[in-house]
Amino acid sequence: MESLDGWKRTHTCGELNAKNAGEEIILMGWVHRWRDHGGLIFIDLRDRYGMTQIVFDPKCSGEDYAKSKELRTEFVIAVKGEVRKRPEGMVNPNLSTGDIEISVTRLKILNPAKTTPFEIDGDKEVSEELRFKYRYLDLRNSNMQKNMLIRHQTYQVVRNFFNQNNFVEIETPFLMRSTPEGARDFLVPSRVHQGKFYALPQSPQTYKQILMVAGFDRYYQIVRCFRDEALRADRQLEFTQIDVEMSFVEKDDILEMVEKLMVDIFKHVRDIEIKTPFPRLSYEEALNTYGSDKPDTRFDMKIIDMGELVKDCDFKVFTGSLKAGGIICGINLKNGAGYSRKQIDVLTKFSVDEGAKGLVAIKVSEEGWNSSLAKFFSAAAIKNINEAFEAHAGDLLLIFADEKEKALTLTGSLRLKLAKDENLIPENRFEHVWIVDFPLLEFDPDEKRYVARHHPFTSPMDEDISLMAEKPGEVRAKAYDLVLNGYEIAGGSIRIHVQDLQNKIFRLLKISDEEARDKFGFLLDAFEFGAPPHGGIAFGFDRLVMLLANESSIREVIAFPKTNRALSLMDGSPSEVGQEQLQELGLKVI
Ligand code: AMO
Repeated sequence: MESLDGWKRTHTCGELNAKNAGEEIILMGWVHRWRDHGGLIFIDLRDRYGMTQIVFDPKCSGEDYAKSKELRTEFVIAVKGEVRKRPEGMVNPNLSTGDIEISVTRLKILNPAKTTPFEIDGDKEVSEELRFKYRYLDLRNSNMQKNMLIRHQTYQVVRNFFNQNNFVEIETPFLMRSTPEGARDFLVPSRVHQGKFYALPQSPQTYKQILMVAGFDRYYQIVRCFRDEALRADRQLEFTQIDVEMSFVEKDDILEMVEKLMVDIFKHVRDIEIKTPFPRLSYEEALNTYGSDKPDTRFDMKIIDMGELVKDCDFKVFTGSLKAGGIICGINLKNGAGYSRKQIDVLTKFSVDEGAKGLVAIKVSEEGWNSSLAKFFSAAAIKNINEAFEAHAGDLLLIFADEKEKALTLTGSLRLKLAKDENLIPENRFEHVWIVDFPLLEFDPDEKRYVARHHPFTSPMDEDISLMAEKPGEVRAKAYDLVLNGYEIAGGSIRIHVQDLQNKIFRLLKISDEEARDKFGFLLDAFEFGAPPHGGIAFGFDRLVMLLANESSIREVIAFPKTNRALSLMDGSPSEVGQEQLQELGLKVI
């Protein structure tokens, strides 16, 4: 092992080209690949910036030629040498440094490396378990390096954007009182106040509202949030938000600001022009058309409600469901009539696993329907249904009969599955859509009371306030989500800033005065000292970067993520702690 001893890197491994021919340079990096061509040793030297071919030969490399035979992949080395043009025919057009190579005169082995458990940028698929255990090696892969740089660039664009628009970046505490986002909190025991706990923020929601009361007018923060919830491809226990709050604004002001931010991000990070304003869909429309409040609008296959068209048919599954207050809805898989019995069974199983009672599949033919169901429908009914679905011979209708929300979400899930199976989703398309007019409340059958869909500070729509007493389920909120390619990438709302309305909402949510005071007293107190009208939004930063990087899991854009089982395989957390530490905190593991 040798030390640098005054050697200074003159260039990175991605920098040199034919113009540098003849120069004496020093490069440092990792041995990516090595080849011993009987006499000549070729090495691809790698760093974050690229790869440069370096050559050892007995004539130029002197004493260090023998040393170069010890080199193996992932050794860290420094080389001194001369840049020379590669001989004709040896040029590598796929490499930015492909015109040149380094004829090495001196070699320093700065650090050897053990044989790595997987090859960096190798062809073989590596399990996620191994990748996470050796994340520092995984992060050497060019795709992970690219992703981390996209993430870095996105931070910069976001910060620049907000700075240019008069926003102030303010940090808020990680050790705080429980927040109102509705997931499970992570608790941190207090040593000084035994028996008491801080909660890690599910979001800085209460603080950012208080910052509006404090007069900061425009706040943002790129901030870590913590939620103890079931993990998925787009969910982590700790994730990052771009958190925003603005005073003296209404919904449209916030949506407009966010659209400008998205234009900037896509332009600077991906060189893509995004068109604004983004389309807006009400929650109701999104559910009715796409069976989801986060619709993927990159492809059509819209949901058709066919209840009216089948209400007089003889098919009991349909009429029975309608009588029970349900709906009949479905989608048309264009050219899907070639699906085999087995393929349809797979779709049925998928839907049943999602909670469906069954799936009706009808093949459309020249004659009408190629289905045992045809006998229950008149020729006119079949014609009308085909028209509603814009179905032609060769298409496949897939239909659910169920309670409304369930039938729609089942159809929405099947729509997504089919689009993936059939490759119907165009690549490199970014379709933003605002979902607006969310219901303010949802009924929790377990607790037998209404709960806030967003959080209890979300303002109801002015025109719906009168419905609050009689039909609370119909009150819509001044809440909005931004959806991109089927992912909810941001959500926010205009807040309630007057005490009277806030109290009404608490009563509606059956939150008692004591409970409200206990949980949010500090916020309610603050509101009594002149709260401006305000509202905001928070982005799921990891989801946004995931989409910018064309990935399908946020784990690919987080340097040190947890597995789906909430484990950090590299450092082995969570882990047990010693008795002493527990005692100090006044805790006992049961
Ligand atoms: P919300 O709970 O909708 O709103 O969160 C905002 C956005 O954060 C992302 N997100 C997540 N990303 C990764 N892993 C998770 N576990 C996770 N949970 C949420 C989503 C989501 O749209 N305080 C409010 C915002 C506001 O009202 O201003 C809030 O946190 O992309």
